[in-house]
Amino acid sequence: YLRDGAYMTERLDKLLSDSGLYSRSEARALVRAGRVSVDGAAITAPERKFSRECDIRVDGERLNCAKYRYFMLDKPEGYVCATEDSRLPTGLGLFPVGRLDRDTTGLLLLTNDGDYAHKVISPRSKVEKCYLAETEAPVTSEDAAAFAEGLTLADGTRCLPAGLEPLDGNYCLVRVMEGKYHQVKRMLASRGKPVTRLRRLSIGALSLPPASEPGELRELDESAKNLALTQL
Ligand code: URA
Repeated sequence: YLRDGAYMTERLDKLLSDSGLYSRSEARALVRAGRVSVDGAAITAPERKFSRECDIRVDGERLNCAKYRYFMLDKPEGYVCATEDSRLPTGLGLFPVGRLDRDTTGLLLLTNDGDYAHKVISPRSKVEKCYLAETEAPVTSEDAAAFAEGLTLADGTRCLPAGLEPLDGNYCLVRVMEGKYHQVKRMLASRGKPVTRLRRLSIGALSLPPASEPGELRELDESAKNLALTQL
């Protein structure tokens, strides 16, 4: 019996409800109605135990019964990151990994894996979050030097050394390993370059696909979700 391992077994009704699609009682009813198969065999006893790795199907359709799920959302503007406000299927118990401001777009991870979320967020993991920012005025190499040094904000907040890369026009890339309240906006404002638009492009080695549009949601497999913990 290994935690999260191949030998872990759970009641079939529990596995079905872990998909987020059914309550326990709905799951029991489905099994009793003969609509569920496991590894090709029809099973009608909801209390029978199986491994999560089994091929579990409802009406012939494969179900994802993994304990932990990982999604990347290209967060649209105008939405707040809060569990209570979530418009997501709540059956999975997903929550956002860190926060993006209401007017910030881009890569937001959603999961029900608390340890993973903690690792992604914690500055101790040294996972870099990369943002594309548009500012009221172009950033300079002096601004970049100040970022590299580690900024102190107006209220005395000390920031870890961060990356700032000027791009064409009023755009720049900002790389930070921490996620203090309004951090990127406050860092740029402290240099007299208020942010007019902000979009998160990547977390660690996990990037939004180049053609990604706000509102798109993708489920991540094991290797993709681990990219967000990979230091560049
Ligand atoms: N920094 C900010 O200022 N806002 C965000 O949404 C994310 C990082």
